[in-house]
Amino acid sequence: MQDTHSLRQELLESIGTAADLEALEQLRVTTLGRRGRITDLMRQLGTLSPELRRSRGQDLNRLKTDVEAALEERRQAMANSALESRLLEEQVDITLPARPERRGMVHPISQTIDALTALFCEMGFTVVEGPHIETDYYNFTALNIPPEHPARQEQDTFYLPADPTGTPRVLRTHTSPVQVRVMERTTPPIRIIVPGRTFRSDHDATHSPMFHQVEGLVIDRSTHMGHLKGCLIDFCRAFFGVDDLPVRFRPSYFPFTEPSAEVDIGCTRAGGELRIGPGDDWLEILGSGMVHPRVLANCGIDPDIYQGFAFGMGIERIAMLKYGIPDLRAFYDCDLRWLRHYGFLPLRIPAIPGGIDR
Ligand code: DAH
Repeated sequence: MQDTHSLRQELLESIGTAADLEALEQLRVTTLGRRGRITDLMRQLGTLSPELRRSRGQDLNRLKTDVEAALEERRQAMANSALESRLLEEQVDITLPARPERRGMVHPISQTIDALTALFCEMGFTVVEGPHIETDYYNFTALNIPPEHPARQEQDTFYLPADPTGTPRVLRTHTSPVQVRVMERTTPPIRIIVPGRTFRSDHDATHSPMFHQVEGLVIDRSTHMGHLKGCLIDFCRAFFGVDDLPVRFRPSYFPFTEPSAEVDIGCTRAGGELRIGPGDDWLEILGSGMVHPRVLANCGIDPDIYQGFAFGMGIERIAMLKYGIPDLRAFYDCDLRWLRHYGFLPLRIPAIPGGIDR
């Protein structure tokens, strides 16, 4: 019977020098397949005495496991280098000028972010971004949402494995954690907006597991509810392009603001058609409030000196309302016909001088 030591050397060497995936597969079949060499040797075990069978069996098992591992490792290495060479081969120079016959369109989400960025920047806000993978602390605890708080359940959180130091992590369920990150590292005055992706385990005609929000935060010594109202009324009227748009502030509750208000805009639904503007009906579009003193303190800002407001809204929602897009799911179908219909020409960049709806 062949000694496993030399067989092992021979097989490992052949695996190491196999030219391609096909050769590797051939090797697998001839060693581990039904008529493979290791399989054959295992079959012969029955002819041995019990003691010999035991030690020989262990040897063969070890050999089999090692050969399988070596095959897999080599297969991975080949797959990786195949991918690398394919990536090199298919490299695209994205700085080349666009081909007019294949003109790309700007996605309505990007257009909406550009429009609201233009408006808020005109009011003196700057744009900040933050990580999609957040710690439980930034997504919840620092925002005054302690471990047993019902808001944690309401947010359908995607939980991730803890990081190497054991810190629990989540995909951020809202853009509010970026408030905390900015307050921790900035001495007021603060005036920021945070557009970005957010994630919740929820999927139907009006919810997508990945969606976008924009968060706003203003902190100063004397910022008050009047500033909140003025800022958001101006924003809603400019964003929807309706000068006399009614805007209503309705008392509400968020753990991170006190007092809190939900903001509705006026609309009509006559004849089943939704129109934004003065009318007899209301549409809720955003959440807001005065930043809770405990949140300020959590971020190292003295609530006896500073105060301010925050707000948050869903970007898909305001995009659907502004551009008359009926179904949320189409945003992520990557259907070119949809994009050609609802997308924007690349040079129609929303800006204050030319108007956000050029
Ligand atoms: N984070 C809230 C949500 O995802 C939205 C929100 C409401 C943000 C009120 C705020 C705020 O900053 O003040 O539903």
